[in-house]
Amino acid sequence: MKADIQIQAIGPPQRDLLITMYDRFDPLGAALGLPPRTAEARHNWIGSALGQIVNVAAFSPAGEVVGHCFLAADKPGSAEMAVFVRQESRRRGIGAALLKKALEWGWAAGLGRVWAVTAYDNGAALRLLMSRGFRLVQSASAVVELDIDLPVPWAAREMLQPLRDLSFGGHGEDVPGCTIGPDSPRRTLSSAGKTALGISPDEQPRWG
Ligand SMILES: CC(C)(COP(=O)(O)OP(=O)(O)OC[C@H]1O[C@@H](n2cnc3c(N)ncnc32)[C@H](O)[C@@H]1OP(=O)(O)O)[C@@H](O)C(=O)NCCC(=O)NCCS
Repeated sequence: MKADIQIQAIGPPQRDLLITMYDRFDPLGAALGLPPRTAEARHNWIGSALGQIVNVAAFSPAGEVVGHCFLAADKPGSAEMAVFVRQESRRRGIGAALLKKALEWGWAAGLGRVWAVTAYDNGAALRLLMSRGFRLVQSASAVVELDIDLPVPWAAREMLQPLRDLSFGGHGEDVPGCTIGPDSPRRTLSSAGKTALGISPDEQPRWG
């Protein structure tokens, strides 16, 4: 990744920067319905994402957000991951850098497992996840679930145990704003329920 891209933790104060990134995102809706296609749904989704346990963004030298990764806790010690990089900034290592930082901070926040759902033909996401240690859990209806245990070896080498004591706003059901609501529990793919990110495996994937 180019040295002029900065990876930083973000939260609600960066909502407008994220809206700017996602309003120009292409293609919308391609990642199992995400980012949402309508502005209202997209902006609500961004607000919800910023309330989750870990949010990291990649900033350009001009201060624009060009990539975003977040972890949404579904139960204590476990969270779903999503990562998005602006179309003109892809294939430069930004997605990998975002994922690495999100997993490091997820572990520091007490997570032991991170999982993701993607379409079976999303080569970019699958390559990114599997090359960073995610393994296949199950696949059904053209969607694939992958997961990884934390800490991952490459993160553990760089992290210090005391970092686990840092506060990242809490995790799991203990902290308001970080809880996955009862209307969006994690279910297995075969149950066709929405995932923690609001992804419905029933939605027809439309990959760019
Ligand atoms: C998936 C996504 C985040 C990858 O971001 P990125 O910044 O381009 O990824 P990176 O440059 O860090 O590349 C990471 C790895 O994926 C590979 N990769 C990236 N894009 C790829 C593509 N289109 N086809 C095949 N491999 C690809 C890279 O070669 C690299 O592998 P390597 O490290 O083994 O060489 C980006 O394509 C994206 O935003 N896609 C749309 C949203 C989406 O599908 N998100 C996933 C939801 S879980």
